[in-house]
Amino acid sequence: MDKEIKILAIESSCDETAAAVVKNGREICSNIISSQIELHTLYGGVVPEIASRKHMEKIDQVVSAALKEAGETIQGMDAIAVTYGPGLVGALLVGVAHAKAYAWAAGKPLVGVNHIEGHIAANFLQYPELTPPFLCLVVSGGHTHLVRVLDYGETEILGRSRDDAAGEAFDKVARAIGLGYPGGPKIERAAKDGDAKAIAFPRPGFSDAPFDFSFSGLKSAVLNYLNECKMKGLSYSQADVAASFQAAVTDILTERAELALSETGEKRLALAGGVASNSAIRSSLQAMCEAKGADFYVPAPILCTDNAAMIGAAGYYEYRKGNRAALNLNAVPGLKIGERG
Ligand code: KG4
Ligand code: ZN
Repeated sequence: MDKEIKILAIESSCDETAAAVVKNGREICSNIISSQIELHTLYGGVVPEIASRKHMEKIDQVVSAALKEAGETIQGMDAIAVTYGPGLVGALLVGVAHAKAYAWAAGKPLVGVNHIEGHIAANFLQYPELTPPFLCLVVSGGHTHLVRVLDYGETEILGRSRDDAAGEAFDKVARAIGLGYPGGPKIERAAKDGDAKAIAFPRPGFSDAPFDFSFSGLKSAVLNYLNECKMKGLSYSQADVAASFQAAVTDILTERAELALSETGEKRLALAGGVASNSAIRSSLQAMCEAKGADFYVPAPILCTDNAAMIGAAGYYEYRKGNRAALNLNAVPGLKIGERG
């Protein structure tokens, strides 16, 4: 049996300061998340400068808590993994600078991890038996990608959003109907009391690129609907707008994923990213996969939102491949999926 590999992982790309200890890329020894959501709610969205300052305040505590909960010390780690992109530059830099300092001080190798690949790797924690290849739909606040995971850290992009990410659309629509930040969970809650068929919002697509997404058209349709109501002096139902919008996003995602399963012949579909917490989207994809005889994988909600355990999982496979970051590792805010910075 191979030696056990333990990784201390750090994540600070947006508004969660997180650290985790992960064993062999599959087992969570600890997963500490300090969320700044309440703070940013006051401003209606993430304020980058505040995010960086809060990361600075919390990061050492969060790392210590992750090691303590795992019953480990930094000397017991085989490597330090850190998200170096994509994300907010100032926020990323806090995690990167601290990871470099820990790695240097403890004499441990440093591994840079792509945040989006971290989201995909959350599935390896939830399903220790899951191995590539499989299809993965990554839906977060900043990214919407339909990919084929060929191997660990190796993806082929089938489709992507040409404009807003799915989570971004949830956040913008939530703001427009007065639900505020964070939009996704608030729309999901409001939608429970609404009629998903009340308003026929469009399900935009591209005939030349059937796996690509466009969410800004859908968002504009919602804004137009709200404007029309206002101009006619009519009131609208927040719950019906939320439910009808959520149904449109769900249909778009389900339809693309179904087509991808058919066209690629893959029999496994995984879901990843913050939007993957949405129960309407989860059940729709689950039902579609069942009908097609495919297996559906989705991490528990705590592993869908930003966390460091997923970075430890992705970091493990980078470590196994011998990928090491130098101590001049920099934050790459626009890092693309599959890109090595
Ligand atoms: O993956 P994530 O935590 O951060 C990024 O890497 O972007 O995703 C955050 C996004 C936000 O846009 C948030 O509104 C959305 O995920 N989200 C949801 C739900 N929970 C979070 N969207 C729909 N339904 C949810 N329950
Ligand atoms: Zn994320």
